[in-house]
Amino acid sequence: MPSLSVFGAQWGDEGKGKIIDLLARDVDLVVRYQGGANAGHTVVVGGEKYVLHLVPSGVLHPDKINVIANGVAVDPAGLLAEIDGLRARGVEVSERNLRLSSNAHLIFEHHRRIDHLSEKWLGAGRIGTTGRGIGPAYADKAARVGLRVADLLDAERCRARLGAAMVEKNAVLERVYEVAPLGLEAELERALAIGERLRPCVGDTGAELRAAYRDGRRILFEGAQGAMLDIDHGTYPYVTSSNTGTAGIPAGAGFPPSWIDDAIGIAKAYCTRVGEGPFPSEERGARGQAIRDAGDEYGATTGRPRRCGWFDAVAVRYALALNGARRWVMTNLDVLSGFEEIPVATAYRVGERALAEYPAELTTLDGCRPVFESRPGWSEAIGAARRFEELPANARAYVEWVEERVGAEIVMLSVGPEREQVILRSEL
Ligand code: GDP
Ligand code: IMO
Ligand code: MG
Repeated sequence: MPSLSVFGAQWGDEGKGKIIDLLARDVDLVVRYQGGANAGHTVVVGGEKYVLHLVPSGVLHPDKINVIANGVAVDPAGLLAEIDGLRARGVEVSERNLRLSSNAHLIFEHHRRIDHLSEKWLGAGRIGTTGRGIGPAYADKAARVGLRVADLLDAERCRARLGAAMVEKNAVLERVYEVAPLGLEAELERALAIGERLRPCVGDTGAELRAAYRDGRRILFEGAQGAMLDIDHGTYPYVTSSNTGTAGIPAGAGFPPSWIDDAIGIAKAYCTRVGEGPFPSEERGARGQAIRDAGDEYGATTGRPRRCGWFDAVAVRYALALNGARRWVMTNLDVLSGFEEIPVATAYRVGERALAEYPAELTTLDGCRPVFESRPGWSEAIGAARRFEELPANARAYVEWVEERVGAEIVMLSVGPEREQVILRSEL
């Protein structure tokens, strides 16, 4: 496929980084088009673990072009630190393999502060954000007061725009939140120095992507977060501030919608969520902790323990439908080894009513109870399996049964964090 959207089909952390790194072998460009450093995409190669926040997950392949497109909210200091961290480990990151849109919006210290303070003020109603300034930066974008990458490359323009923004932000910090204001000169100096270092990577990535596609080059679009965290279609207000899947690509990358040739969802064999908000199949007890222990379910960005629960076929079906995906990848199947019984949410119940489809209304969702059906588990470790036939019979039956409940083909299974720990079920 010349262009492919790979997206999270749950609440994030589905193993996108691992699968995208693997699929990147067969493409020319890997593109981030939304989200920011709230993402934490883990890639493990030869025992070396890399957690990527802004740099696309193709970066470990030396011959790929990695694009941070206009829809990403870029924390320039964070991006530079990430680039330096990768270089220090011998990974090439240069203007040759990293492209940064001149139109991507920027995250500054005031965005991070306001993110934290607004969460504090929300109290029990907080979202449980990653604290990376994502919401405030996208809010400024929509309010047309944001700064973009190009603004970092013109000192006078940067001073004018950052100065104007900070007058307002400082007023908010001082008078609303009653905390100390930030100093413009220090912020400005830091921003301009970072801009100079990023300058060689900056360009019109939309034009570059369209030209690449016309030239027959293969493009993989790397979704961050997951469908259920989508600002329009997720569990609002407990969502992130961008369109997290295929629908985010055209606006977020300057890429025509009709040029998106295929979409593949990623979902774990169970389910996790970080932060607040509804999670119908959540397992709060000892079994939830057992999943957390077995899957090492702690946030790749914030280190927070992830909430754990069982696979939710209703939510994944919804996520795949929303993204137009007929195929998906099931990750972390190995984590389920050792559970005697494995429940799966196959429907919801609201009062006496059964719901087979995901409800659009949060109020309805709040009242939903999952209907679980259980499958027998298996005890063997499966991390070494490379062919479907090598899996224990109950693991094969689980996969096939879930596949049927979701109604979409599982093209690949992931049985461990390493790049090679996969079982390909059909050609991609
Ligand atoms: P992403 O945000 O979707 O890229 O996912 P994260 O990197 O935040 O979280 C996925 C975690 O699961 C990481 O620690 C991965 O190394 C790990 N992982 C990915 N695939 C598998 C798998 O098949 N089995 C196990 N046990 N871990 C996996
Ligand atoms: P990846 O790409 C899991 C969650 C936060 C919070 C909500 C809003 O690694 O899958 P934000 O900081 O975006 O304003 O937080 O979204 N969240 C994620 N959860 N994985 C992520 O990214 C996430 N990015 C944001 O925990 O509930
Ligand atoms: Mg993650």
